[in-house]
Amino acid sequence: MRIGVLTGGGDCPGLNAVIRAVVKTAIRDYGMEVWGIKNGYSGLVEDEIIPLGMESVVGILPRGGTILGTTNRDSPFRYQVVTNGQVAYVDKSKQAMEVIRKRGLDALIIIGGDGSLNIAQKFYDLGINVIGVPKTIDNDISGTDMTFGFDTAMATATEAIDKLHTTAESHHRIMILEVMGRDAGWIAIHSGIAGGADVILIPEIPFTFEKISAKIQERVARGRNFSIVVVAEGAAPMGGGQVTAGVNEGNIFNPVKLGGIGQYVQEKITTCTGQETRVTVLGHLQRGGSPTPFDRLLATRYGSAAVHALARGEQDVMTSLHGQDVITIPLMEGIKQQKQVPPQGELVRTAKALGISFGD
Ligand code: F6P
Repeated sequence: MRIGVLTGGGDCPGLNAVIRAVVKTAIRDYGMEVWGIKNGYSGLVEDEIIPLGMESVVGILPRGGTILGTTNRDSPFRYQVVTNGQVAYVDKSKQAMEVIRKRGLDALIIIGGDGSLNIAQKFYDLGINVIGVPKTIDNDISGTDMTFGFDTAMATATEAIDKLHTTAESHHRIMILEVMGRDAGWIAIHSGIAGGADVILIPEIPFTFEKISAKIQERVARGRNFSIVVVAEGAAPMGGGQVTAGVNEGNIFNPVKLGGIGQYVQEKITTCTGQETRVTVLGHLQRGGSPTPFDRLLATRYGSAAVHALARGEQDVMTSLHGQDVITIPLMEGIKQQKQVPPQGELVRTAKALGISFGD
């Protein structure tokens, strides 16, 4: 059997560990051939495909990023073409299918988030067997208990909170840390609890500045003249109604116009509390660097499990962490909805029991 492996969408720590496990398991256990598709789905359209032998994966286990490269906007079904500076989107799926046939690929292992896995499903519908491996630092794929990359991002964010703590305490300041998480607050809530934050703002729980200020004033009254606020990039105030003019577009809250939610929260908290505040946007530091041991292990298990699934003749499935076990589940089942932090769940309750405010 000849398999193609592809990394799609935003990168995250552990991608190389999956590629390594796929190559080793396929060659050692089954004598399969593995081909690497470069730069996400665009490699399928442009026929940028390289053989992956045992030598190609030497030393990549601890390396961040992906040796194959990746892109965000490369769906063959809506492919971006730029001619004389003009951008157009065309369906290049037939071209990609020709490449798959020409290269003799029997199946594709797609390592990606919900965007890339949805595209994988479209290839399955066209007759190509696909196995999905869920990745994202955001941990928001419902079909698995955990995506790889999340643990590393959480560790990076927690380390940042630890560092902000010492300077916040010295200067009696409110430190705001903006972390990633467009639609789900997993990184914010996990790192916020692990780092001992005072306020955590997540997309799942709309907040008010009155509640945030009350928490900060309560700390001041107890002699704590500093506070740590962790805010996920997708968090938004209740109703979006308290946002200053020019930021509400219709009913849609657009913090990007103000340079991000972190900066917006900083401006409002400064006004509400009169305390000195600073904001740090952690950004892509969360996506880079060496994966934690947990992520290396999970990524390796996913990579091996994807190949074993192919060898068993499974089709259109996704690897998934279920409790302690790595299993496979139907691909569409795994990505049909986004996994968000339950506002009444155990994590939020634990944080609240510790006195952490969600601004609600
Ligand atoms: O999907 C992961 C993610 O980290 C989001 O949380 C974030 O909004 C996005 O990627 C950033 O992507 P880009 O690299 O395109 O700026």
